[in-house]
Amino acid sequence: MPSLVTVAITIATLALFLKPVYDRAVTFGAFRSPTAIFHNAGAGDLRFIDGADCEDLHLHESGSIFTACQGTQGTRAKWFPPLTNFDDPTSAGDGELRVIDPKTFTSRKLTLDGFDSFFCTHGIDIIEDPKSSRAIYIHAVNHAPSDEFMQSRNASLPAERKADSRIEIFHHVVGSDKATHVRTVRHGLIQTPNDLLATGPTSFFVTNDHFYREGAMRKIEDFATRALAPWSNTLHVVSNAKESGYDGVDAVHALTGLHNNNGIGRRPGGIVVCDTSGGVAYLAHVEGRSIKLDEQIAYQSTIDNPSWFTDKYPGDNDRSGIVQAGLARAITVHEDVHGGKGIPPIVWLSSGAPGKGWNTSLLFTDDGQSLSSSSAAILISIDPATTDKKQAWLFVSGFGSRRVVATKVDL
Ligand SMILES: *[C@@H]1O[C@H](CO)[C@@H](O)[C@H](O)[C@H]1NC(C)=O
Ligand SMILES: *[C@@H]1O[C@H](CO)[C@@H](O)[C@H](O)[C@H]1NC(C)=O
Repeated sequence: MPSLVTVAITIATLALFLKPVYDRAVTFGAFRSPTAIFHNAGAGDLRFIDGADCEDLHLHESGSIFTACQGTQGTRAKWFPPLTNFDDPTSAGDGELRVIDPKTFTSRKLTLDGFDSFFCTHGIDIIEDPKSSRAIYIHAVNHAPSDEFMQSRNASLPAERKADSRIEIFHHVVGSDKATHVRTVRHGLIQTPNDLLATGPTSFFVTNDHFYREGAMRKIEDFATRALAPWSNTLHVVSNAKESGYDGVDAVHALTGLHNNNGIGRRPGGIVVCDTSGGVAYLAHVEGRSIKLDEQIAYQSTIDNPSWFTDKYPGDNDRSGIVQAGLARAITVHEDVHGGKGIPPIVWLSSGAPGKGWNTSLLFTDDGQSLSSSSAAILISIDPATTDKKQAWLFVSGFGSRRVVATKVDL
C-alpha cells in the first residue's frame, strides 16, 4: 500500500503538471460557453461598418480610424500564412486600406497609387510625416505568396517558400482618398511578421510571432507558454524611401525570448507587446533599437493588438488604459475559421498606470454572429453631458470579422 507520503507526493506532482494545463485551457476558452451576444449597453447600440476581415485598427489624432482589411470576405480560410492556411495563393488578392469615420459609422476605401501586387493584410501602424502635419505614413504587413509557389503550385513546398511575407509602406494625406506606395521592405529576418510599430517614415519594429510556420511543432508552439517556448522575436528595421525590396534595409533583433509576441502598440511613456496565445501583455519601453520589458498583465483569454484608451472625461474614475481584443474560444479557432459559424470575440479594458496596478474588466463578447473574431479594438469616450452614465464607443474587428462593429459600452 502506498504510504501517505507517496500519495501526497503523487498528488503534488500531478497538481504541478495539471495546473499549467488547466491555466492554458482557461486562456483558450475551453470552459467558456459562447453565450448569445453579451455587451453591457444593450444590443440596440450595435453599428455595422463596411470592411471585411480588418485585422488591425489605429486611431489618428484627426479622429479617423485607419485599418487594413481583405476586400473579399472568407479568403483567409484559403490563404493566410499566420493561421497556417496555404491552400489557394490567389486568395491573397484584394487587401485594402480603409478609413473609418467614428462619428458617422462609415468607412471609405483608399485607392492604392503605384501599388499593383497581392495584398494579404495583417498588422499596420501609422506615423506622422515629419515634413507635413497633414500627412502620415502607413506601414502594413503583406503576406503575399511567393513567385515560386504562384508558378509551381507545389503543395509540398515548405511554408517558408510558399509565403513571401513583407512590409509595404504608403504615404497618405489625411482626408484624401488615396495612399501612395513608397516602397516594399524585405529582409531575411522578417519571417512571420504580424504587427508593426512605426518609429519613422521608413523605420519600424515588427514582431515575428512564430518560430515554426506549420506542422506539429507549430501546434506545440501555440499551446505552450513563455516557460516552454520563448521562441519568437521582434525586429527593428530601418529602410529608406529611395530603394525597394531587399535594398537599403537594415534589421536587428530588438527583443528575443518571448512566446508568440504578436501585437505591439503604444502607451504613454512606452509600448505594449503581447504574447497572444499566452494571454499576457508586457509593458515595455524602447532603448535605442531594443525593447526592454517592465511589467506584465495576464488575461483570461488570448489577446492580440493592444491600443491605449485615453479617458477624456475622467472625473473621479479615470478609466484610461489598455484595450485588448482576443478570442473567447481560441481552442476552436481553426474549426471556426473554416466552419462559417463565426469566431467568438472578446474585448477587455485594463485601467490603471504602470507601477500602480491594473483593473481589468470585460467590455464585449459575442457568440461570433454579430462579430466574428476580434484582434483589435479602439475605445472613444462619449461626452457625459450627452448620456446618463459613463460610456464609450468601442470599435472592434478581427482577421475574420466580416465587418467592423461599433457598440456603446459602460465604463
Ligand atoms: C515540390 O516540392 C518538393 C519540396 O521542395 C520537391 O521535393 C518536389 O520535387 C517538388 N515537386 C515538383 C513537381 O516540382
Ligand atoms: C481598481 O479599482 C478599485 C475599485 O474600484 C479602485 O479602488 C482602485 O483604485 C483601482 N485601481 C486602479 C489602478 O485603477
